Amino acid sequence: MKKRIAVVPGDGIGPEVTREAVKALRAAAEAGGHEFAFTEYDWGAERYLREGVSLPEGALDVMRREHDAILFGAIGDPRVPDLKYMAEILLGLRFGLDLYANVRPVRLLHPSLTPLKDRERIDFVFIRENTEGLYAGLGGNFKKGTPDEVALQEEVNTYKGVERIIRYAFDFACARRVKRVHMADKSNVLTFGHGLWLRVFAEVSARYPDIEAAHLYADNLALQLVRDPSQFDVIVTNNLFGDILSDLGAGLIGGLGLAPSGNINPAGLSLFEPVHGSAPPLAGKNIANPLGAVLTAAMMLEHLGLAREAGWIESAARSSLEEGKTTTDLGGRLTTSEAGDWLAARLAAHARP
Ligand code: NAD
Ligand code: IPM
Ligand code: MN
Repeated sequence: MKKRIAVVPGDGIGPEVTREAVKALRAAAEAGGHEFAFTEYDWGAERYLREGVSLPEGALDVMRREHDAILFGAIGDPRVPDLKYMAEILLGLRFGLDLYANVRPVRLLHPSLTPLKDRERIDFVFIRENTEGLYAGLGGNFKKGTPDEVALQEEVNTYKGVERIIRYAFDFACARRVKRVHMADKSNVLTFGHGLWLRVFAEVSARYPDIEAAHLYADNLALQLVRDPSQFDVIVTNNLFGDILSDLGAGLIGGLGLAPSGNINPAGLSLFEPVHGSAPPLAGKNIANPLGAVLTAAMMLEHLGLAREAGWIESAARSSLEEGKTTTDLGGRLTTSEAGDWLAARLAAHARP
């Protein structure tokens, strides 16, 4: 069956890295004998500045009706200081499509890439709640712009939202045959909201007797991740901590240029995007590392049931690192498009003669 992919390149380096991800997808699909149809959507700063449109009306229905997955680049442009359009697009998709599980693997693909001493293996996954928490946009300003200003930003934690993400983390651990699930919060201070997380974690973990469940505070988790990441297999946490800690995770494995992610709705359409943003200083220079986007494409393939082709992409990425065929952020000399061409050539080699 033909796979129908919506491609949303977005802003900054988004289009540059997404182009290479699509190149890798085409090469892997062709070698594996699969058909892909790509439809590009021009949502982002350019269109917003031109037409005042962020996420067009009806976009969510079109996505659900016409696509099997969404491949997303990045959003954010310094020409639009009011980042409302960014929230409307990115959070609009995450919330609107109920992409509640943000899966962010942290895997070391080459030992030279980690700043940690004597670490050969780093392999764990963040499962970040992706539809509520401090991202819900609840709050307001009172007496704005005066010395008496009050600014409120509410954190939303629902039983349904917390239960389903924690359950997702345990199911994920079972499916990956790993033994440990950690949950990180600040229930020592945020007694109401994170107290709920703590109670639900105890309740859900009791249903998974074969998985070791442990709780730790998010500040301690930041320390433990740097000290010894081998303590972790699956880490489930809320929206904001997941955002911050996943950049820390990227730092452990070679930087944001290497970090993939999936925004998953287990019962519907899912969206795949690298962890990094639009990196304005790198944009338009053909120097951004495409591997984060390319490995994101591999996650998408696996999600679509093409695990063999996903594995090909991952091993091409590993080879590029071993052979130094990388962009300058990793010490190589290739441009974004050259790095993508190198990977595509590797992938083409899987085609049957
Ligand atoms: P960023 O992720 O764009 O960049 C952070 C750092 O990582 C920079 O030093 C950048 O040069 C480097 N980097 C990022 N991607 C790289 C790549 N592919 N190759 C090499 N180096 C790379 O984060 P930022 O600078 O905080 O944010 C820039 C804009 O992107 C902001 O508007 C922000 O809101 C937005 N953003 C969007 C997303 C998204 O669309 N999912 C994610 C994060 C940030
Ligand atoms: C990410 C980004 C986004 C987030 C921003 C751009 C809204 O940092 O995907 O990690 O905070 O979720
Ligand atoms: Mn982030």
